[in-house]
Amino acid sequence: MLFNLTEEHLMIQKAARDFAKDVLKPGVIERDEHQKFPTEEIKQMGELGFLGMMVDPKYGGGGMDCISYVLAMEEISKVDASCSVVMSVNNSLVCWGIETFGTEEQKQKYLPKLATGQIIGAFCLSEPEAGSDATSQKTTAVDKGDHYVLNGTKNWITNGSTASVYLVIAQTHPELGSRGINALIVEKGMPGFVVGPKENKLGIRGSDTHSLMFDNVKVPKENRIGADGFGFKFAMQTLTGGRIGIASQALGIASGAYELALAYSKERKAFGKTINQHQAIQFKLADMATQIEAARLLCLKAAWLKDKHLDYGTASAMAKVFSSKVAMDTTIEAVQIHGGYGFVKEYHVERLMRDAKITQIYEGTTEVQKIVISRALLQ
Ligand code: CAA
Repeated sequence: MLFNLTEEHLMIQKAARDFAKDVLKPGVIERDEHQKFPTEEIKQMGELGFLGMMVDPKYGGGGMDCISYVLAMEEISKVDASCSVVMSVNNSLVCWGIETFGTEEQKQKYLPKLATGQIIGAFCLSEPEAGSDATSQKTTAVDKGDHYVLNGTKNWITNGSTASVYLVIAQTHPELGSRGINALIVEKGMPGFVVGPKENKLGIRGSDTHSLMFDNVKVPKENRIGADGFGFKFAMQTLTGGRIGIASQALGIASGAYELALAYSKERKAFGKTINQHQAIQFKLADMATQIEAARLLCLKAAWLKDKHLDYGTASAMAKVFSSKVAMDTTIEAVQIHGGYGFVKEYHVERLMRDAKITQIYEGTTEVQKIVISRALLQ
């Protein structure tokens, strides 16, 4: 068993770390405060190849492995989890979904722009009454021969207003349950497609989250991904990989908070010595570092399995459930170590604590991950 990263992995990790420090960090507090989408930063991430890391170079991507993606996600998320959720959705849900299950025409039409960040994509599964219970789709895609007519509402959609391409999951044959669902590629500007108001969120406030309304939207048949009725399996398989991205985001939020707390503990003095000389703080730092290391190993294991084309469903669910808990626990402790300074925005850790929470909710709640894990155990 080898734990060492390759030269290429280390280069990608460093490139992401430098980019996060030099480009993302300066404006991150302001973007969070004003819920400002990182338009310029995302453009640069696209140019540097962070938005289509695993896409085949023949479609404009980086052709990298999933381990590289985990390393880059951690570094970007240490500094700005709003940018990393855009990165995660674009890479693991939209690009991967189209590249793995799309037709050659769909790949050629969408991937080169998505992989380079000229446009970004969104993944539209959740509905007002279908969050964890994803089979209960109320959005309908009625088959009209050469096109579908799409009606319904999607909720909490990342990249809701900034995306150009939306992968929309909708029910075509209600009598078939999960086997009657389709995944359609919807483009911004299709008549009847309306982006609802922006959500005012606790965390990842720089990312734009919206509800979407579809009112008799005509979607050409050639925009369906996979065979008729494949939509639910498309969504589940895509989310299985997506969960590696969100687990890595959680890992980055945790390690970012830990690094800030460690640095602060070396400077702050109390009772005549720096606070890292107090055992109460040393034990917190030791716990944080241990938990983060375990989360990192789970993320990398899931990515390794994916790279080897082995079953990674349970591993990705384990990585997400564990890393997101570590993100919550670690960020709370990082605020505690900072004391009163941790409670104000300038020190970054309160934002990381707010950002951590969503990693236990989106792309499948902690409870959904435990369903996935326990089903595998009980098979
Ligand atoms: N891979 C392939 N197929 C799968 C699968 C997977 N991972 N999971 C399920 N399936 C298949 C099953 O084998 C079954 O197939 P058959 O009909 O052939 O037997 C079919 O799909 C239905 O599966 P289940 O009966 O297991 O479905 P269920 O209703 O019990 O749901 C669930 C299971 C795991 C709870 C699922 O509904 C789920 O994952 N829910 C969470 C949804 C989610 O993650 N939403 C996130 C929204 S996207 C987002 O957050 C993106 C963002 O913006 C950041």
